[in-house]
Order: sequence, then C-alpha cells, then structure tokens
Amino acid sequence: MKHIITGALLASLLSIPLTVVGGSGKSIDKRIALNLTTAETADFLAEMRQMLASIQGIIMGIGEEDRELIYKSARASGGRMARATPDSVRSKLPPSFREIGGPTHMMFEELAIRAETDDMDMLASFTGQLVQQCLTCHEMFKIKTLQ
Ligand code: HEC
Repeated sequence: MKHIITGALLASLLSIPLTVVGGSGKSIDKRIALNLTTAETADFLAEMRQMLASIQGIIMGIGEEDRELIYKSARASGGRMARATPDSVRSKLPPSFREIGGPTHMMFEELAIRAETDDMDMLASFTGQLVQQCLTCHEMFKIKTLQ
C-alpha cells in the first residue's frame, strides 16, 4: 500500500513538469513573445545594447562626478531613441510593453536634466529606479518563443 501511494505521488509530481513542457504546447518560459522579424530583432537588440551602454556611462559619470558624461549617456537613450522605433516594430508592441518602454525613455530624459543640478547620490538612486524598468520589462517580454 505504502509503495502504491508513494508511486502515485511520485508519478503525479513528475507529471507536473511534463505537462507544462510538452502537453499543452506552451513554453516553460512564460514571457510574452513579441515575434519580431530577424531585421526588426537586430534593430531592437541594438537599441537595448545602447541602453546598457547608457547605464554604463551614467554610473561612470556618477562615480567621477562628470555631469556632462551623465547627460550625454542619458540623452542617447531618451526621447530620440523612442522616436526612432520603426513603425513596423511599434505596431507589434503590445500596450503593456509600451507602458513600460515609453516611461523608461522619459526617465533617461529626466536624468539628463537632473544631471545638471542633483547631488550624485540622488542621481544614483534615480538610476536604480530606472534600471528597475529594465528588470520589469525583461521579466515580462521576449523576442521569440523558445521551442
Ligand atoms: C519595454 C521593455 C523593455 C525595457 C524597458 C528594456 N528592455 Fe531590454 N530587452 C527587452 C526584450 C523583450 C529583450 C529581448 C529578450 C529576449 O528575447 O530574451 C531585451 C534585451 C535586452 C538586451 C540583450 C541585447 C542583445 O543584443 O541580446 C540588453 C543588453 C538589454 N535588453 C538591456 C536593457 C537595459 C539596460 C534596459 C534599461 C535601461 C532595458 N533593456 C530596458 C525589453 C525591454
């Protein structure tokens, strides 16, 4: 009896991941796929790497109290980048994506302005809030469904 119960328990435990992976055809990766084309993906990811470079410049600028570097780095990922998104990509981005993406570019713009006057510790903590936007979106979205 004990063996039967243990066996049934084991089988049910094992079957949970199996159904998640194979059964329904759904991916174990729960992020929403944007399904961009290869060319759109290349542009999209290049912008992402630019945002990472901006964060690098901002942190460097804060460390060295170089306001110009913070300003330039932040501007590179601000409104200009948002406006440069091609229409084909824009039309594929769900509202829930744009609700995070738009404000992220605005925060870079705000940081560029605040770089002129704010103390470095305030700039550092605002940068922390900005990077939280990156994390929130990365948690929710991916380019393609992995299968
Ligand atoms: C509105 C959504 C969104 C925001 C905000 C966002 N990202 Fe991304 N990012 C993505 C998606 C989607 C991918 C692709 C992930 C995947 O397919 O696995 C990505 C990928 C990346 C990559 C990988 C680039 C490559 O060449 O593979 C980097 C680096 C990156 N993001 C940096 C950042 C940084 C830094 C920030 C914040 C300043 C940021 N992202 C904000 C959605 C976002």
